[in-house]
Amino acid sequence: MADGRLSERLPDFPWDLLAAAKRAAAEHTGGLVDLSMGTPVDPVPQVVREALAAASDSPGYPLTAGTAALRAAIVEWTVRTCIAPGSARSGPRSEASAAGTAPSEGLGVLPTIGSKELVAWLPTLLGIGPGDTVVIPTVCYPTYEVGVRLAGATPVRTDSLTSLGPARVKLVWVNSPSNPTGQVYPAGHLRKVVEWARERGAVVASDECYLTLGWEDEPVSVLSPEVSGGVLDGVLAVHSLSKRSNLAGYRAGFVAGDPEVVSELLAVRKHGGMIVPAPVQAAMVAALSDEEHAAAQRAAYAARRDVLRAALVKAGFEIEHSGAGLYLWATRGDDSWSTVDWFAERGILVAPGAFYGPAGERHVRVALTATDERVAAAVERLEI
Ligand SMILES: Cc1ncc(COP(=O)(O)O)c(C=O)c1O
Repeated sequence: MADGRLSERLPDFPWDLLAAAKRAAAEHTGGLVDLSMGTPVDPVPQVVREALAAASDSPGYPLTAGTAALRAAIVEWTVRTCIAPGSARSGPRSEASAAGTAPSEGLGVLPTIGSKELVAWLPTLLGIGPGDTVVIPTVCYPTYEVGVRLAGATPVRTDSLTSLGPARVKLVWVNSPSNPTGQVYPAGHLRKVVEWARERGAVVASDECYLTLGWEDEPVSVLSPEVSGGVLDGVLAVHSLSKRSNLAGYRAGFVAGDPEVVSELLAVRKHGGMIVPAPVQAAMVAALSDEEHAAAQRAAYAARRDVLRAALVKAGFEIEHSGAGLYLWATRGDDSWSTVDWFAERGILVAPGAFYGPAGERHVRVALTATDERVAAAVERLEI
């Protein structure tokens, strides 16, 4: 093998580091309650499974750009959810246009093999490399940094762009609602980020995979007119069906935004074979066209969140941010790994805040993704 392995640029795979705590937690007589990775546990909606099955006879190569039906479904969902929320029932396209917001015809869309692969490869796909800087949030999903390192560029962790100085910034990642903190940025903050990036010719990639899970706070998309100013120059919204539709196993995501940037991504991805399988494309159409299952799933998470949150507070934890998304960002001021051990003694596995950056070292991330029965077990153990 050649010298200088690519994997040496990358951090340890975080979940491997949790193996000892998982073994300890699994020894609990009532069994493991896994609130760590945030993997969906509820069934794939029937309407989606039927669409996947109906498309199982797919001998030919699928389109990297997605079928016409999928592109239309992504545009419709993005307009009604991100660009003109609230206008869904009376016709998303016409309302968006009537309001002078970004017209759906100008929206670039592209399906991705889940959103993690796009996060990991976006800097490379955009031609970013050594000497370039990519801004990532101070405390964030680890794959942003991985993507920057795969490209050989330099990651800078900051939530304040004014502190950056003369660095050659090519890409700025924002993630609202945040994983792990659940923090939601108001439109005014996102708008400043977009203006700052446009002045420098940088792309803003907004990871919005928890956009539809607002609780106390209402998340806003980078594609909304309040943020984008009604034009899509230099902005990309990254979305995932993993959590909204329990499709983590299908690998189903997409990116929407500046048509010029999206067509560049398509041009490279076509060569790279980064294609969503045809049956998954059909399943995505069914998932995006149905809000009923998404509302039911959201209600299930809301109920689990209420009881977990109350139990954590009773056990002496402070819950910071967490106004949206799929996690509770909890602290008692202790080191995150010792808090992981504290939970493991109770048979509960949570993620140490240290996974998400040095500023997370005194928190743990508690996921809402467990069955009602497992969540009830966690609540009972936290009360003892
Ligand atoms: C912030 C964020 N972005 C992207 C992803 C990747 O999701 P997926 O690849 O399942 O679409 C996750 C998964 O947890 C995430 O938390």
